[in-house]
Formats: sequence, C-alpha cells, structure tokens
Amino acid sequence: MPLFSIPKEVAVGTAMLGVAFATGVLAAKRYPLLGFGTHKPPRGFGKSSPLSQYILDHSLREHPILKKLRMLTADHPFGMMMVSCDQAQLMANLVKLIKAKKVLEIGVFTGYNALNMALVLPDNGRVVACDINEDYAKIGKPLWKEAGVEHKIDLRIKPAIQTLDELLANGEAETFDFAFIDADKESYNEYYEKCLRLVKKGGIIAIDNVLWNGRVLKPRKDDLAAQCIHHLNEKLLRDARINISTLPMGDGVTLAFKL
Ligand SMILES: C[S@@+](CC[C@H](N)C(=O)[O-])C[C@H]1O[C@@H](n2cnc3c(N)ncnc32)[C@H](O)[C@@H]1O
Repeated sequence: MPLFSIPKEVAVGTAMLGVAFATGVLAAKRYPLLGFGTHKPPRGFGKSSPLSQYILDHSLREHPILKKLRMLTADHPFGMMMVSCDQAQLMANLVKLIKAKKVLEIGVFTGYNALNMALVLPDNGRVVACDINEDYAKIGKPLWKEAGVEHKIDLRIKPAIQTLDELLANGEAETFDFAFIDADKESYNEYYEKCLRLVKKGGIIAIDNVLWNGRVLKPRKDDLAAQCIHHLNEKLLRDARINISTLPMGDGVTLAFKL
C-alpha cells in the first residue's frame, strides 16, 4: 500500500495536464509569439495543435532578421501584441503581388511588420509607420538598420489619426497601395475610413484582430473594443466600396480590397 494514494482519475487528469503544458512549452519555444498571443486561437486549432504546427513547419519562410526581432519581442512584457508571423508573411506576399510602393502601418509596436513590409518593397518604397510609443519602436530600429531597410520606414510618433489627417491634408489621398490596421480597437472605424481615402483603387486594407479572441460573438456592453470591432465587421460585410475576405489567421484578419 503506497504511503500516499490518489484516485486514478486525478492521476490521469494530472498527467494529461502535464502533457498539454509540455506541448505548449515546446511549441512556444519553437515559435515564440507565433501570433495568437493572449488571444485564444479558434478551438481545436491552437498554436500548439499538430495541424497548426504542421502549417507553420511547411509554410513559414521567415527572414533571419525578422526572426531575430521576433525573439527580441518575445522577451518584452507586452510581446503578445506582436503580429503573427504567418499573417505577416501573407501581408508581405500581398504587398509583393500588387507591386506596392507605398504602405501604411497603423500600430507598429517593435516594428516586426514594418520591417516585414519594408523588406519586400522596392528600394524607393515607403512604409509610413504610425505609433504613439517610441520606446517600442526603439527595439526594432537597430534591426531595420541591420536589414538595410531603415530608409524605407518613415516612423511617425503621434496618434495615428493625426498622421492620417496630415497625409490627407498633404494631398496623399489615393496614393497608398496597402494599409495594415493594428492599433487601438476603439478607433478602428476611423482608421478604416481614413485608410479607404488614402488607399488607391485596387489597393488592400488589412484589419487585424477582427475576431477579438471570440468576444465579437457576444460583445459585452462594457467591452468597448469588442463592440467597435463587431460593428466594423458588420459594416464591412455591407460596404459596397470594397470586396472582403476574412481569414481565421492569428486573431482574425479581414482583407478589404478597394473597388
Ligand atoms: C498590436 S500592437 C501592433 C503590432 C505590430 N503591428 C506588429 O507588427 O507587431 C498595437 C500598437 O498600437 C499602438 N497604438 C495604440 N494606440 C495608438 C494610437 N492612438 N495611435 C498610434 N498607435 C497606437 C501601441 O502603442 C502598439 O504599439
């Protein structure tokens, strides 16, 4: 008779938890900040699920300096804010496909996606990168330089609405090829409307976090971010100025193709 005995169900449950934990740790070690961050992935398709892992193992072609920045960002207390690397790769492919020259990044953080887009733009291309926090961008800046694309990134530290208004006032309407919206969710509708004016016909606006960790299903009255994203999702569905596709990638991304 063992000194301490526990019921079989408890032992099995504990062992399963241990395996789940170990799998999560291993997956996180392999691809830290794959992008779900604090946002829970759709059920059965978590970042540690074998299928998600398979997709990444068979599709991710990350530039070594992007990988370096991802690793650096993983150590940041808000590292979970970083865009998912598979989503960033899709954006780089779209930017290349449409032969973009001028792109917008609304919400830069450590600059992973700004770098990601700058890497595929032509030498005279430009990323107008908007954020309110310079300290975050300071983490990525040396790597923008190391990658030789620093000259393509025009970082504007002020509220993004102000930068977008300045671009419009400067006669830059319909001159951008691509925009990525990834800052404060409460301003998403305004960002979208301004981007729609700044982006050319045939250009693309990518909107991140459109599933908001599933909270868009039943947005609570006190969850302003979920309300704003949900209202925008409803509006986009009926917006005759664009075609759309919503992908369950990362925390959900909608691609709006300007008509
Ligand atoms: C989710 S992170 C962006 C992640 C980034 N796109 C990447 O490639 O990893 C959101 C960023 O939006 C910025 N932000 C929040 N409110 C803002 C505002 N009003 N104007 C500009 N940036 C803002 C935050 O400082 C933060 O860096």
